[in-house]
Amino acid sequence: MAGRTEGADLKSVSPNQPGKDYSRYFQPPSLKEAKKRGKADVQVHYDFAIPEEMAGIGRGKHFLIRTYGCQMNEHDSETMAGILREMGFAQTDDEREADIILFNTCAIRENAEDKVFGELGHMKSLKRDNPHLILGVCGCMSQEEAVVNKILAKYQHVDLIFGTHNIHRLPVLLRDAMYSKEMVVEVWSKEGDIIENMPKLREGSIKAWVNIMYGCDKFCTYCIVPYTRGKERSRRPQDVIAEVRELARLGYKEITLLGQNVNAYGKDLEGGSYGFGDLLDEIRKIDIPRVRFTTSHPRDFDDRLIEVLAKGGNLVEHIHLPVQSGSTEILKKMARKYTREQYLELVRKIKAAIPHVVLSTDIIVGFPGETEEQFQETLSLVEEVGYDSAYTFIYSPREGTPAAAMEDNVPLEVKKERLQRLMDLQNRISLEKNLALQGQVLEVLVEGESKTNPDVLSGRTRTNKLVHFVGDKSLIGKFVEVRVTEAKTWTLRGEIAAKVEV
Ligand code: 5AD
Ligand code: SF4
Repeated sequence: MAGRTEGADLKSVSPNQPGKDYSRYFQPPSLKEAKKRGKADVQVHYDFAIPEEMAGIGRGKHFLIRTYGCQMNEHDSETMAGILREMGFAQTDDEREADIILFNTCAIRENAEDKVFGELGHMKSLKRDNPHLILGVCGCMSQEEAVVNKILAKYQHVDLIFGTHNIHRLPVLLRDAMYSKEMVVEVWSKEGDIIENMPKLREGSIKAWVNIMYGCDKFCTYCIVPYTRGKERSRRPQDVIAEVRELARLGYKEITLLGQNVNAYGKDLEGGSYGFGDLLDEIRKIDIPRVRFTTSHPRDFDDRLIEVLAKGGNLVEHIHLPVQSGSTEILKKMARKYTREQYLELVRKIKAAIPHVVLSTDIIVGFPGETEEQFQETLSLVEEVGYDSAYTFIYSPREGTPAAAMEDNVPLEVKKERLQRLMDLQNRISLEKNLALQGQVLEVLVEGESKTNPDVLSGRTRTNKLVHFVGDKSLIGKFVEVRVTEAKTWTLRGEIAAKVEV
């Protein structure tokens, strides 16, 4: 692909395994390199194609992709599945039937990585039984030097490692992995260009992900994402809008706009004056019933965006607004670039402009040096905002990030205990919020049968609450009015009040 960002060229590097040639494709990732934000313009390519000689390479063969981590990864897996399908491969969920297994990994916390290493270990026996199996590792973990070195040293049954910027290279890399005896490694530390027209094999026909931007320039001190996903790059508005229109035409009922920091959308585009609010104002007019987005950084959440969200319509009244901590001092150490007061002021403005808005958040406890008082500020903020739900995490040091070098005098036991207190508080609030919905009739988009009982249907409200109710399977993919009969901490039960035609 032409026009790669400077510094992204392939390099041959001497292997770290004596006597082994890791071939022309060996390029180790470098967190230090990844940190540099290049000035070069990002090119947009519309000419992705599977090279002719590889078009039928997968006929009669199967692939399986294991996805870990966030929605961005889920969507990348849909792209990889699309590419593989165009190469002739069919999808399977049976490891024994698979000719290719890809692990699309997450690097956000250590336990996410441990899980992948554990599963990779299990693959050894599968590979022994089926030596032709191609085992690949991609996603955020493959962007980390230490991970690649560990795989090279201890997981030699892996055939292919490629990074988050190398997805469009999958056909070539796969061919090389199939015909080479050595591990094929291609991980660009620097982000590449935007590749527009990669095929996608979407999961389901009701809800769809739509990327609006890639990468992150925020560099919160705990976070690995700006290194693994590169600098912020926005897709052109016309490309996003065309994709949403196409999804509407295909009958999708809900889209989720994706970006590591959607509120920074457009800052890197020519002129820099067209922002996320402007994009939403256009998407609002497209005939698709529900539009969500994730994830928002409070710092870039501007008045224009609030004004557009307040118009409602297909823009749902649910905002995921990660706060991370309720202490201004900790927020400073995290480099979040807002104070507790500024966050609360933003929440106040959002609540004033969007009646019945539901807020959810992400919170990290046990950041290096966090005191009991600072933790209590998080508890009081949670109480004050009144989130409907929260994802809560114990801080996990990530190699190469500034926070990993900070002195941490908080014992793990204390961190665990804080997490428990925070979860207890949030669960109490979540239940209260759900109890208040009892008796109300809510619009539910029916997604399918409940995971535990095929006679029960599951769906979500505009505010993203999971609702279970008895109903006919013909309602799947439709909007139904459901009266809430029972509220639990994480889910609602209800009964059909009426069907809504859309
Ligand atoms: N340790 C714990 N949690 C983290 N997150 C990001 N990095 C870390 C880390 N090093 C959390 C943040 C973020 C969510 C996706 O994961 O809360 O919003
Ligand atoms: Fe995990 Fe972040 Fe990568 Fe998503 S972008 S897979 S959350 S590390």
